[in-house]
Amino acid sequence: MNKNLFAKRRIEVMQIMKGGIAIVPTAPVRNRNRDVDFPFRPDSDFYYLTHFPEPEAVVVLVPGREHGECILFCRERDLEKEIWEGHRAGLEGACEIYGADDAFPIEDMGDIMPGLLENREKVFCTMGRYPDFDQSLLNWVNEVRSKGRTGVSAPGEFVDLSHILHELRLIKQPDEVKNLRRACKVSVAAHRRAMQVCRPGMMEYELQAELEYEFKRGGGQFPAYPPIVASGPNACILHYIDNNARLEDGDMMLIDAGAEFDCYAADITRSFPVNGKFSAEQKALYEVVLAAQLAAIESVQPGNHWNEPHEKAVQVLVDGLVDLKLLNGNRNQLIEQKDYRRFYMHRTGHWLGMDVHDVGDYKVEDEWRLLEPGMTLTVEPGLYIASGSKDVDKRWWGIGVRIEDDILITRSGNDVLSGGIPKTVDEIEAIMNG
Ligand code: GLY
Ligand code: MN
Ligand code: MN
Repeated sequence: MNKNLFAKRRIEVMQIMKGGIAIVPTAPVRNRNRDVDFPFRPDSDFYYLTHFPEPEAVVVLVPGREHGECILFCRERDLEKEIWEGHRAGLEGACEIYGADDAFPIEDMGDIMPGLLENREKVFCTMGRYPDFDQSLLNWVNEVRSKGRTGVSAPGEFVDLSHILHELRLIKQPDEVKNLRRACKVSVAAHRRAMQVCRPGMMEYELQAELEYEFKRGGGQFPAYPPIVASGPNACILHYIDNNARLEDGDMMLIDAGAEFDCYAADITRSFPVNGKFSAEQKALYEVVLAAQLAAIESVQPGNHWNEPHEKAVQVLVDGLVDLKLLNGNRNQLIEQKDYRRFYMHRTGHWLGMDVHDVGDYKVEDEWRLLEPGMTLTVEPGLYIASGSKDVDKRWWGIGVRIEDDILITRSGNDVLSGGIPKTVDEIEAIMNG
């Protein structure tokens, strides 16, 4: 992504701040065990403002500061350490590559930060995410307070910067859409591959390996979340990630997996029969979920409110459940009393972006938010008939179906970013048997 884009974002934030100071740390490195850390992934808000990929970094925005408004605290170059841990941008790189106006060693932050806080009325921060950093920030403010007699004043107000940033992050800019498209493209290839290689007798983790092979091969640095590779009744466990069961002939398969590309997530689900041929029950449930998904996508339009796709999906699902005699009664009543929640217990989507469940308010002044061009979201209805479901004929037991796509709202309607994976019964059977 272009470094001017990040400079522009920072200017936009500073204009909203009107004079305060903003302080945003990246994520801490988390230890996994002894000498092994979890792979580092930057904090999304920090990365949104800087594109700086290294750990141990903090960005500070100081509107009006004479020696530069954007300061990046980061690790210095250290040839000895770089032999072990890899290249660092260093202070020079922070300015030249990432467009900071000024950069200081992260070790010096405690000495420098109180000075930056002096005479600033408000501190804009992403408080509550990293308690250790929050404590340091309070300590720096206290240090400024203790100098009150010298005539300096300490900030009197803390403002939640997340809210400002998240409103900006909700509307994706063209470069962000490019990243989302790339994440989707890689993930589409992965889902297609999984459908093609799936056979009874394989293990769920073997399919996971095929997905992750495509993610890496396509330049997707990480899965955006732990892939759900669930066969048979495991598909009815919504956050199943054990991925260690054998694929049985006659079972359904549910794969919910998406790659992350430059910190932008894809989030895609497909359901298909392990043996490549839908049974009558599998097909019946699948067709209901597909109809619900298509109806929901149809209503992802600028000007519609956030909940409309969900409402559409629920109507179609309930009609389908009544037709299949899995629910009895009147549609509106079943919806009002939430009887369908036995088989459909989650919502139909969420914002999608740098975080798979991305930021942004769903309601504004207590009303569902209106959809606008540039927003991206998932549409992911499902039906889950757990084994042992009471008052449900056994032939339905253990079938879990979800279909999830990633949608960009455009001026004229929407664009399905995750297209290209078979979705109808015929398409799925064709690719699996092709
Ligand atoms: N993969 C999590 C979700 O679909 O929301
Ligand atoms: Mn998903
Ligand atoms: Mn999702």
